[in-house]
Amino acid sequence: MDGHRRDWEALGDLDPLYAILSAPDAKHGEWDVESFLATGQADAARIVGACEALGLLAHRGSSFELGCGVGRITRALSPSFGRSVGVDISAPMIERAREMNADRPNCAWVVNDAPDLSAFGDGEFDLVVSFIVLQHVPDRAVISSYLREMARILAPGGAMVVQMPASMPLRQRIQWRRRAYHSLRAVRVPERTLYERLGLDPIRMNWMARRDVEAAIRLGGADVIAVQDGWLGDGSRVGREENLTYIATR
Ligand SMILES: C[S@@+](CC[C@H](N)C(=O)[O-])C[C@H]1O[C@@H](n2cnc3c(N)ncnc32)[C@H](O)[C@@H]1O
Repeated sequence: MDGHRRDWEALGDLDPLYAILSAPDAKHGEWDVESFLATGQADAARIVGACEALGLLAHRGSSFELGCGVGRITRALSPSFGRSVGVDISAPMIERAREMNADRPNCAWVVNDAPDLSAFGDGEFDLVVSFIVLQHVPDRAVISSYLREMARILAPGGAMVVQMPASMPLRQRIQWRRRAYHSLRAVRVPERTLYERLGLDPIRMNWMARRDVEAAIRLGGADVIAVQDGWLGDGSRVGREENLTYIATR
């Protein structure tokens, strides 16, 4: 996990908002912060709406987000929950989350670089979410561990909502920008030069078959009760991979 953490720490320092949402004209710090946060509100509304449509989220004591970045989604969820916890592997992302969400006292921001969520208790959260995160985790065993762990920390009757690509076209698997980035890093070219001058970045794209995602969630004690195409039924195919959003409960 060390190289992976280091990559996200570099991105958290260099261009955090673009690393989170890669809008074409927002690279190198060009995101308008209000527009960026508005995307979080739209995503949070879609998450809550999808759960409500399935009769979930009757109780809203606490929410949890794995890979919260600067808190785009957790911030938007926080008015609906007593406590909202955002967890990220990247210390600079969490530092930025604390700064940007100082006006949200019911949010807690936690760095977690373990391949599990052992810092959190069984059944602690009514809503557990993760968007655009697991696809960047290099090791499928770690992805399975997080899925299992997110199910474990979900409260009975709660909702777990997780997006993950189910497949990836061959052309996209090559990821030459990432390969070039790591080759040049190995000969000590600075991260800033690679990102800002050469237009390279370390972001990896991974995927996991639907049956494996569902099996990992089941091992954590929850059951998938709905699978939506794209981001909660928006049908999106970011970079042409097949995105699915899983909704589970226990
Ligand atoms: C593309 S960003 C998405 C951020 C947030 N989910 C959102 O939608 O605004 C991916 C985030 O996942 C974090 N991340 C990557 N691997 C992680 C891991 N193993 N555990 C926790 N966070 C991780 C990165 O540091 C980054 O902040």
